Amino acid sequence: MTGNTQEGADARQPLPFMERTPLIAGNWKMNLDHLQAIALVQKLAWGLSDVRHDFSAAEVAVFPPFTDLRSVQTLLAADKLSLTLGAQDVSPHEAGAYTGDISAAMLAKLDVSYVLVGHSERRQGHGESDETVGLKARAAHASGMVPMICVGETAADLEEHGAAAIPVAQLTTALAQLPEDAEFVVAYEPVWAIGSGQAATPEQAEDVARALREHLRDLRGDDRAARTRILYGGSVASQNIAGFMRQPNVDGALVGGASLKVDEFTRIIQFQKHVTAG
Ligand code: 13P
Repeated sequence: MTGNTQEGADARQPLPFMERTPLIAGNWKMNLDHLQAIALVQKLAWGLSDVRHDFSAAEVAVFPPFTDLRSVQTLLAADKLSLTLGAQDVSPHEAGAYTGDISAAMLAKLDVSYVLVGHSERRQGHGESDETVGLKARAAHASGMVPMICVGETAADLEEHGAAAIPVAQLTTALAQLPEDAEFVVAYEPVWAIGSGQAATPEQAEDVARALREHLRDLRGDDRAARTRILYGGSVASQNIAGFMRQPNVDGALVGGASLKVDEFTRIIQFQKHVTAG
């Protein structure tokens, strides 16, 4: 379990202790058709049963492309697999003339639990604003799913504003659209670290995660700030996962490329072994 000490934070009282179940999430991006998806989930389930993974110690979620969701849902249900299903995006609209969009209700019907909103590849490639990201988060919540709000600075932002300012601003605008009591997950993904093989250091990830959590105290109060999971994403691999998971404010990882390799993803999920090994 990750803790939530507030070393180095401002003079405020520490947050109440709250156990946050770590979450290891695999974002497949635009990879794997539905047959390949079935094969990967089957291999992953076998791999995890081999190592006797304790799902109460770390939740595991997969985020396949839309076209794979039905197949993966059916497999998870038929084989009673403890993996959680996520979607990579959602329309902010309920229904109607939005060609190519997928509604939150459609995803909820497929037993989707988490929805990524505001991934940098959507912000950059599809011009999504912070407000749109918030509206998508609201749509996911309204259909009973948990939005995973992605935030992160570009290399230019980092140079100009430091690491935390842009992620904090992105989260603030997105949360303005979300009801006060809504559950959400935050994924801190520095854009410069995504797919580059150059991950942030554990200390960099912790600094931003702590800043985000401190800001959540102002926006949502201590209880929500203490129970919200904040993940790190960007070139996560089995070699570096332990360093991130040792940080008190980092509660898991959003894994891209490495989540497509079953053995590597299984090693990442088994991070406790490396964490306790020091
Ligand atoms: P990589 O792990 O491939 O860097 O991707 C991170 C990411 O964007 C996950 O959403």
